[in-house]
Amino acid sequence: MDRHPEVTRFVAGPWDDPIQHERFVRERISRNYGDGLGYWTIIAKDDPGRFLGWVMLVPHNEVGPDVEIGWRLNRAAWGKGYGSEAAGLMITYASRTQSIKRIVADIHPENLRSIRLAEKIGLRPITTIEDFGSQHRVYAVETEPLELGPKLGRSLQS
Ligand SMILES: CC(C)(COP(=O)(O)OP(=O)(O)OC[C@H]1O[C@@H](n2cnc3c(N)ncnc32)[C@H](O)[C@@H]1OP(=O)(O)O)[C@@H](O)C(=O)NCCC(=O)NCCS
Repeated sequence: MDRHPEVTRFVAGPWDDPIQHERFVRERISRNYGDGLGYWTIIAKDDPGRFLGWVMLVPHNEVGPDVEIGWRLNRAAWGKGYGSEAAGLMITYASRTQSIKRIVADIHPENLRSIRLAEKIGLRPITTIEDFGSQHRVYAVETEPLELGPKLGRSLQS
């Protein structure tokens, strides 16, 4: 998945070096991100053996207290609504925990699919940061307990 140039176009990483890449993925999947946080595999309901991609909730900047949401799908799985479905469920899940107050995503301004996905699940731009030498927009949403209403998150104003 990571080696497809479109998939990692806006994501820095050792995608072209198989040894470094494997080390990177092994470290990422074995790390302890804290209670209730980490990576979730996305699989096809009609074919559970088929890996579609992942979504994540991890401490923002490795320390929190904000929680960073992220997503990545196999190129062949794009454009079918899987990203919105999986990331939306992460917002629902976060709203059911007491500990996650704000969810953020750092997105390259040209990553229009990710921006669209973020906006669909309630995130809004709050600021711009420098990340790996390029400007990224920070999107955020505050979680609300689900029983307060059908809307899952209250968007922040910039
Ligand atoms: C971002 C990603 C997960 C989206 O997954 P997906 O399953 O294709 O997303 P969805 O189909 O649920 O929704 C994508 C939305 O973006 C829209 N979209 C697609 N291409 C677009 C474009 N070029 N410009 C603007 N919007 C676009 C779609 O129309 C859809 O919105 P809609 O439902 O209102 O029509 C997937 O493209 C991906 O893995 N990208 C590479 C990894 C990545 O960049 N991760 C984020 C790093 S911050």
